[in-house]
Amino acid sequence: MHDTVLWVSVALLLLLIAIFGVVIRASTRSTTPGAAQAVIGKARTPLLWGLLIFGAIVVYGTMTPWPHAAPAGNEKPIVVSVTGAQWSWQANRKDVPAGKPIVFAVTSTDVNHGMGLYDSDYRLLTQVQGMPGYVNRVHYTFRKPGTYRLLCLEYCGLSHHEMIGELKVTAK
Ligand code: CUA
Repeated sequence: MHDTVLWVSVALLLLLIAIFGVVIRASTRSTTPGAAQAVIGKARTPLLWGLLIFGAIVVYGTMTPWPHAAPAGNEKPIVVSVTGAQWSWQANRKDVPAGKPIVFAVTSTDVNHGMGLYDSDYRLLTQVQGMPGYVNRVHYTFRKPGTYRLLCLEYCGLSHHEMIGELKVTAK
């Protein structure tokens, strides 16, 4: 999905550059309407309709849930329930298998926390808000076994920086 968005953006950017190029070339050629202007004039209405329809398709297509919130494949995900509280993370399990879809169901008992999932090199993999009264879900499939960490991404009080949880990912 991210690749698709990237390539659509690149294609639109190139189209925009091409349109600017045509307009600049046409505007510097002559001041009286010529063949180029006639072609542009004729192409304007279908171009506008094309852009409108394309825009409507893009809007419709991107209104579906983001892919990182969708489970990978049809396999039933393992639920890891995580509760944030000043100032620690409680989870219903300490380890999960690699290669299996996981869904983190995250909430909070007090204030808003941000659950950031990090690998052993402290690279952020995914994140979701932990909010009192809500359960927010984020799907993730671990590729490699190892020790992963949950850090709080939202300032939640004096010991915000101490909200560090650990999750072991075991080989399949
Ligand atoms: Cu919890 Cu910052």
